Amino acid sequence: MAGQEVDIEVKLILEAIYERYHYDFRDYAGTSLRRRLKAAMQRFECQTLSQLQGRLLREPEVIRSVLGDLTVQVSEMFRDPEYFLALREQVVPVLRTYPSLRLWVAGCSGGEEAYSLAILMKEEGLLERTLIYATDINQEALAQAQAGVYRIDLVPGFSENYRRAGGTGSLSDHYTAAYDHVLLDKSLKDRIVFSDHSLSTDSVFAEVQLVSCRNVLIYFNRALQDRAFGLFSEALCRNGFLGLGARETIRFSSHAGDFIEIAARERIYQKRSPGTPGGDD
Ligand SMILES: C[S@@+](CC[C@H](N)C(=O)[O-])C[C@H]1O[C@@H](n2cnc3c(N)ncnc32)[C@H](O)[C@@H]1O
Repeated sequence: MAGQEVDIEVKLILEAIYERYHYDFRDYAGTSLRRRLKAAMQRFECQTLSQLQGRLLREPEVIRSVLGDLTVQVSEMFRDPEYFLALREQVVPVLRTYPSLRLWVAGCSGGEEAYSLAILMKEEGLLERTLIYATDINQEALAQAQAGVYRIDLVPGFSENYRRAGGTGSLSDHYTAAYDHVLLDKSLKDRIVFSDHSLSTDSVFAEVQLVSCRNVLIYFNRALQDRAFGLFSEALCRNGFLGLGARETIRFSSHAGDFIEIAARERIYQKRSPGTPGGDD
């Protein structure tokens, strides 16, 4: 297929998904999107993207599957352990000064990142005063996150991450094993609210002290990244923290001036308070 026709078909398919289902992928990064749509086209034995478009408008099974393709669901507990170690060492001492805490995990996938934060807060004696909002657009991922059940063969990797992230006990302190899966503790689940929220179309819903949005913005183009950074800046309280994924940065955003970098390698930023050099007075 010629490049130009494909570009037009991709554009039309994204418009169709938006019109029909209100999922807005129109500002996602092009290359990965095209690859994923083409893979779906082959899986459903369509000759063209226009054919795939016709099917996803009419067949629930096709749109469910394509939504799964477009919202990449890769995650693990304590992913990039050095990030969680930096949170523990550099962010938690500040969080400790607040009487109550609200944290936002944006793009939480199956819940691994939200539960990791909950475990960290529990070990730091802060979980009782913490509420974690964990949001995503993928309903199946949210249902899995709510269940808090993970395959047991994933646990050795999670445990190794937990140890490298500065875990003070054993990961097994926080789950019950049964047959081929583990169930995370109710005490963690009770402090997390999982809900549907889109960084593409929704607005801010709470004031929070920390936003952790990891490995989500890599799928967005510059304009949509900027929208998300605007939401984070608006949601964060004075001196609140923002954590990104290892391949993400706020540097090229129009909101870069709202933040200072506090852990460069771990991609952790702090919102400037009015009056700090470079902040708004
Ligand atoms: C690769 S996973 C990252 C999971 C986790 N944050 C981590 O780092 O392990 C990306 C997640 O972002 C979600 N996502 C994609 N577009 C989104 C949007 N517009 N708003 C909110 N979440 C979105 C996907 O559904 C998926 O669960």
